[in-house]
Amino acid sequence: MTADNLAIIVLAAGQGTRMKSRLPKVLHRIGGRPLVGHVLTTARALGAQHVEVVVRHERDQVVKALRDDYPDAVFVDQDDIPGTGRAVQVAVDALPADFDGDVLVLSGDCPLADADTLSSFLDEHRASGAPATLMTAVVDDPTGYGRVIRDADGGVDRIVEQKDASADEAAVREINAGMYVFRATTLRTYLPEIGVENAQGEMYLTDVPELVRRDGDRVAASVVSDVSVTYGVNDRAQLAEVGRLLNARIVRRWQLEGVTIVDPATTWIDDDAVLAPDVRILPNTQILGATRIAEGAVVGPDTSLVDCEVGEDAVVRRTDATLAVIGAGATVGPFSYLRAGTVLGAKGKIGAYVETKNAEIGEGSKVPHLSYVGDATIGRGVNLGASTITANYDDVNKHRTEIGDEVHTGSHTVLVAPVRLGAGAKTGAGAVVRKDVPAGALAMTVAPQRNIEGWVEKNRAGTGAADAASRERAAE
Ligand code: UD1
Ligand code: CA
Repeated sequence: MTADNLAIIVLAAGQGTRMKSRLPKVLHRIGGRPLVGHVLTTARALGAQHVEVVVRHERDQVVKALRDDYPDAVFVDQDDIPGTGRAVQVAVDALPADFDGDVLVLSGDCPLADADTLSSFLDEHRASGAPATLMTAVVDDPTGYGRVIRDADGGVDRIVEQKDASADEAAVREINAGMYVFRATTLRTYLPEIGVENAQGEMYLTDVPELVRRDGDRVAASVVSDVSVTYGVNDRAQLAEVGRLLNARIVRRWQLEGVTIVDPATTWIDDDAVLAPDVRILPNTQILGATRIAEGAVVGPDTSLVDCEVGEDAVVRRTDATLAVIGAGATVGPFSYLRAGTVLGAKGKIGAYVETKNAEIGEGSKVPHLSYVGDATIGRGVNLGASTITANYDDVNKHRTEIGDEVHTGSHTVLVAPVRLGAGAKTGAGAVVRKDVPAGALAMTVAPQRNIEGWVEKNRAGTGAADAASRERAAE
């Protein structure tokens, strides 16, 4: 197959009424991309010379969602004549007039047709020499699909839409998958002949085979064995089902690449994520966006990573992280919340109930318990005591906190930014640090403790506390 002589038309002009959504159907997402994005990613893999997307319903929204990721795709506007036949016609008209190769027609709502399947489909079409080839499948329940009607010799005779089918025709279980290859010249010849005299008042692309046959030519059919590649999304139930199937495929791909995925049913991996061999994914984990996970890392259970980088042998459990970089051998979690711009150095630690944002945390540095670290640069070998907080917001602006190497803060330290702690500095428990601390200094801001003897027995007489205090003092 030469991609040079191939055009791909992706139909994406329909509204998708059955989705009952503000969002156009083809922009609903599975596997980290809009439905039509999967079709365009596959189209790109096939290396076609022309890729066209036919748009109409909410066309600006659809174009905006795709333009940047698929700069080579050409958007073609369908006019107010409805139907898949019209959609393909406007796309063919937008091809160079001298284009005489093959045209692969795909639907923006059928994201499971992968490049391998379509590549064999194109090969079959070319080998058969027919001017048109349909992808078909034999299914248990053909409801909603066009039926493939064969002639006495077993060749394709025509396609009948469900709404136009007789009872006999409706009983046929071989369905039109909605994916076709046509010679460009065949489409140019027959599309102008198609009318709208049918139950839906639309120009049906599915009328082309009958016209090809009328002129004595043959229509080939490629029957796929894996019916799931033909699944389309028309409603939210199908959206979930197709999303599950796509995920199962992605999970399996990584398993075969050497990733341990303990529970495929509760592991969700977006198509753009990349996992190295010997990564282990524990149950209930979502690896989303362009997340990259290096060898030997353990992620999960109960973890969501969006556009994150996880270093070799890092351990990330019960964590929610977005746009964070987790260094090699670092540990994160449980119950950690890493927001955009978090960079945790090698062998560093972000522990329980810690939130971080725009924070660079140096190699071997630890934020183990109950902290908020935002807009901070932290050196190496630092330990922030439990509940250390960077107060980065003065109610108007955000300010930075800088912490040098080997700093240790006492529990419950508040670092009021902008503030800098020099290398090796320490803070006392409960310190509220408003001024820079020089290297090697100890910052104490809490007044010395004063004990008022007998206060409880005097002021809270008769309480459990007073009784307990009396007992302990009597025993002393
Ligand atoms: C279509 C086929 C049917 C096939 C089924 C497979 C026709 C007439 N019927 O039916 O035989 O079994 O797909 O899934 O082709 N679209 C446009 N412009 C339009 C109408 C639709 O671009 O004017 C796009 C839609 O956005 C969608 C695709 O074409 O991506 C298919 O349209 P849809 O209305 O879902 O067709 P089906 O009724 O499923
Ligand atoms: Ca459909």
